[in-house]
Amino acid sequence: MPSDDSTPVHARSPDGPARPTLGSAALDPDVDTAKAVERALDLYLEQRLREAEALDPRFADDVASRVRTFALRGGKRLRAQFVWWGWRAGGGDAAGTGWQSALRLGAALELIQTCALIHDDVMDGSSLRRGAPSLHVDFAEDHERSGLRGDHAAHGRASAILAGDLALAWADDLISDVDCSPSVRKRIHTLWRSMRAEMVAGQYLDMYAQADSSSSPDQALRIALLKTSLYTVERPLELGAVLAGADEATISPLCSAGRSAGVAFQLRDDLLGVFGDPSATGKPAGEDIRSGKLTYLTAVARSLTEATGDASAQRLLNQALGNAAMSQADLDGLCELLERTGARGMTEAEIDRLLRRSEEELLRADLPSAVQNRLSALMSIPTKPVRTLATPGTG
Ligand code: IPE
Ligand code: MG
Ligand code: MG
Repeated sequence: MPSDDSTPVHARSPDGPARPTLGSAALDPDVDTAKAVERALDLYLEQRLREAEALDPRFADDVASRVRTFALRGGKRLRAQFVWWGWRAGGGDAAGTGWQSALRLGAALELIQTCALIHDDVMDGSSLRRGAPSLHVDFAEDHERSGLRGDHAAHGRASAILAGDLALAWADDLISDVDCSPSVRKRIHTLWRSMRAEMVAGQYLDMYAQADSSSSPDQALRIALLKTSLYTVERPLELGAVLAGADEATISPLCSAGRSAGVAFQLRDDLLGVFGDPSATGKPAGEDIRSGKLTYLTAVARSLTEATGDASAQRLLNQALGNAAMSQADLDGLCELLERTGARGMTEAEIDRLLRRSEEELLRADLPSAVQNRLSALMSIPTKPVRTLATPGTG
């Protein structure tokens, strides 16, 4: 990677430890990890955008700048935070060397997430992301507004596929240029390769389960592991720890903790997808139901209604899952069914079990308490408002 203005400046004050800074203002990644990664990401994307402008102004304006805006509009920076705290858990010193590489690894994770979400919205036909039109919808609207020829929606999808590809290419470039020893670089590349393939495999199995109407809770958990847990928690933690030169005794429990927490995240996302408040999640409610996705929540509902022989509940489930034209009233009815059959309760219990296991594994890593506390907090991010059926429509 060419040198840039994110070169570290270690401002050692007379009475305090060295503090990394990025750009002009001092920023302590231990204090505000998300902001520090965002700054590194911003600086990196600025360079990529300048290169795109030199290449072609249309491409820069339409595609590269949209990728930049999307990536910078990101939410909690979870993956990048796991890289940073994996690095700290592995012995990375925030006041020493290597912190910039840890932030760049985090920025690469944010870009792979940018690619995943842009493509995911095309694949899932989702029109809203992070509270704004999905990228393919944005492209399509622009196509229509500009009076261009052809099918607006098809143009939007094709452009979003390219935008996602660009985000992935930029993520790969960041990884290729990470500043570390040859042996660490080799391990990082191996992990990165695995992680990309796992995520793509998970996305394919997610689609496939929708197509073959699979209803196995175990398959739902496997898909959650591949399409979410590995690239969201376990691999980012492992990448950070490997960058720091951690040994197996630290890496192994960290990975186990991350794996359980990551599956819990997806199960919670599935719950939010049905019971969540769209103004808080930034995504419409009921999409998984309307498109007939295999989720742990609905798979459990199916097996519970089969076990109890509840024929009317089975009928309702069959009518709802995959019914693109389902009304809000039908969705409310399905929510009531998911509560009544205990499917929601079982999913919440599974989330709790996974998070408890994650906490136990984390303790096994025997980390300094400050690092342990931050990881523990990250792995148990509270559920965003979920409406309860006692007060329908609230929350
Ligand atoms: C997104 O999965 C997972 C990836 C992008 C790899 P979902 O399709 O289940 O998530 P949302 O609800 O659209 O965010
Ligand atoms: Mg989706
Ligand atoms: Mg999806």
